[in-house]
Amino acid sequence: MAEGFSRSSGEAPEYKLVPLRGFNLISGIHSPEVVDQVQNFEIQDSDVFVITYPKSGTIWLQQILSLIEVKGDVTATNNQLNSERVPWIELLDSRKQFVSAPSPRIRVSHLPYKFMPLGLKQKKGKVIYVARNPKDVLVSYFHFHKYANMLETPKDFDTFFEKFMEGNVFGNCWFEHVKSWCSHKDEMNFLYITYEEMIKDLRAVVERIASFLERNLTSQQLNDVIEHSTFKNMKNNPQANYQQIPVILLNHQLGTFLRKGTVGDWKNYFTVAQNERFDKVYQQKMKEVPLSFIWDMN
Ligand code: A3P
Repeated sequence: MAEGFSRSSGEAPEYKLVPLRGFNLISGIHSPEVVDQVQNFEIQDSDVFVITYPKSGTIWLQQILSLIEVKGDVTATNNQLNSERVPWIELLDSRKQFVSAPSPRIRVSHLPYKFMPLGLKQKKGKVIYVARNPKDVLVSYFHFHKYANMLETPKDFDTFFEKFMEGNVFGNCWFEHVKSWCSHKDEMNFLYITYEEMIKDLRAVVERIASFLERNLTSQQLNDVIEHSTFKNMKNNPQANYQQIPVILLNHQLGTFLRKGTVGDWKNYFTVAQNERFDKVYQQKMKEVPLSFIWDMN
């Protein structure tokens, strides 16, 4: 989610949350001008957008989609970071890159629905929305705030819990993000997948993605995509784990991008009271878009 998220380093700009039409961007990383223009990007049928709320498995989809494109041949991805192979559209220089990129243009974004290219509503291009159970998103995001230099370090978990519930983070309110996209799904060529399904049966999800994108892979090619997309192999792959992102963005002394990769870590952090409160808010906010999540695998 950052400028980057490339190898270039340099002076650290001042990172802070700056609202654009009610959505927080990170100054020095995101471009309000670009984000404001995304709606007018001309969309081709071959364009693919992976949409996520932060910490829902974006890096995982970058790995899977780029491997599908090279039919599982990991050596073809060895000279580019995930974020270079499948870049964000909200970053500073993304418009130029997007316009001139060869087809298929595969992009990730954390933007809510209201900013997205209008062409998607004419069923041009394809959208893959990846959702993760929001309790684990919260915990993953808490750790990411400690490790990412472009985000404010939270005082403690309880403080971050409040910030997340208020939507006072990059990505804003999780509930609004997922609702904004899912309530418009019928307007677009839209595939909804969850992080938990990927943990349970990665092969089944990769097959669904390949079929949605109309990519024909042999069984061996599918095996290769899956093999190089496991948590262990991505964590050990410098092109797929962001260890080369400069320290002005990520403090590698304090964490790793691929942190735990599990379902149910929230149980190690939420108090009983926090959990009850979260459940109440979830029930109330998700009434009109009923989605079901796996909250725990044990
Ligand atoms: P945790 O912090 O819970 O470990 P994003 O890319 O959207 O920021 O999401 C990052 C989260 O996805 C992290 O969660 C990370 O470990 C997890 N993740 C990334 N690749 C994964 C993989 N191959 N298997 C399982 N989890 C993965």
